[in-house]
Amino acid sequence: MDLSGKHIVLGLTGGIACYKAAELCRALIKQGATVQVVMTDAAAQFITPVTMQALSNRTVYDSQWDARERNNMPHINLSREADAILIAPCSADFMAKLLHGRADDLLSLMCLARPIGAVPLLIAPAMNREMWAHPATQRNLAQLRSDGTHVLGVGNGDQACGEMGDGRMLEPDELLEEVIAFFQPKLLVGHKVVVTAGPTFEAIDPVRGITNLSSGKMGFAIARAAHEAGAEVRLIAGPVALIAPRGVTRLDVRSALDMHAAAVDCAQQSTIFVATAAVADWRPATTSDQKLKKDSAGTTPRLEFVENPDILAEVASSERAARGALYCVGFAAESHDLLAHATAKRLRKNVPLLVGNIGPATFGQDDNALLLVDAQGATELPRNTKLELARQLVAEIAKRLPSH
Ligand code: C5P
Repeated sequence: MDLSGKHIVLGLTGGIACYKAAELCRALIKQGATVQVVMTDAAAQFITPVTMQALSNRTVYDSQWDARERNNMPHINLSREADAILIAPCSADFMAKLLHGRADDLLSLMCLARPIGAVPLLIAPAMNREMWAHPATQRNLAQLRSDGTHVLGVGNGDQACGEMGDGRMLEPDELLEEVIAFFQPKLLVGHKVVVTAGPTFEAIDPVRGITNLSSGKMGFAIARAAHEAGAEVRLIAGPVALIAPRGVTRLDVRSALDMHAAAVDCAQQSTIFVATAAVADWRPATTSDQKLKKDSAGTTPRLEFVENPDILAEVASSERAARGALYCVGFAAESHDLLAHATAKRLRKNVPLLVGNIGPATFGQDDNALLLVDAQGATELPRNTKLELARQLVAEIAKRLPSH
């Protein structure tokens, strides 16, 4: 669970997005967090404290005069226990209050009273698009950011008022991903990471082609982990049915040649290149622009193949990699003799780090086990979820970067 041991104070302010806070509260708890809900009077117009108490399994606080606290200082006690305060939804009015350091209700009082260096404040704004775009809101947002508030951004789309645009609160699963990312160590700040992921598809004709069973899950997990670690991430994805991690720029490609062009281009501005894609070794020498048809004589088509470029080997031998500005990581999916094959592949591809895994045990699965091979030897990362392994791999990469 990604939030085990974390105690989060979830603040609700007045807005229709309060209904999403109920789901968010459950999602945080499912990931192992304990959640203490604090609500403003306006929030209680949209969702009852009873609902939030039932979901969080704790009584809700909504008054600075709460006699349950022996010292009668809930604003002090609640904030001292928190690993973070998350205001979701955060109304335009509440942003303005935070900005001015107003403290006339429990939630704003608690935000002001929190130890600013130890208890981070995260806000998920939620409002009508005109309110969001208003210069006053944008001015407040900039000031809140420079005061150290972590603004989680807003979504775009249909709004409860019937209008369309920016300003709706992010969905609970998006907010959960943001909160989890917030707590990850920032090991790759300032780095630009490119990840290739998934299979490639080599067309035979307009309706047929050759591909493989790579699901893309490991590469997507690495892209997410690198983003969580503070890097700017581009994810070059072959045809896969996966949703890109939040905050990651996705480039969809189909063939090995498309992936090659995108990767060579992105690698020129990057500091880390991770090749997880299962790139087809060969492609049909020619692609028919019309569907190949069966004929009455039963003639079977003959396919000729040509070799695809080795994207990793080419990027790893670029001038940028040679002068140490680009750290390259390769993957090897093997069926046996992992150490021997991974060691040989590392030298053949000329990469500092090669990650071996057993192909049949990883394709399509949510977990995996990795064997990291570098010039010093081998390190095992035992079986775990792909996301957890991706985080460990990011930490291993960070340790090996030239600046370390
Ligand atoms: O040679 P092999 O396909 O086993 O090498 C696997 C590694 O090389 C992976 O990191 C894969 O993404 C990368 N690769 C590549 N371009 C290819 C073939 C493999 O980038 N054409």
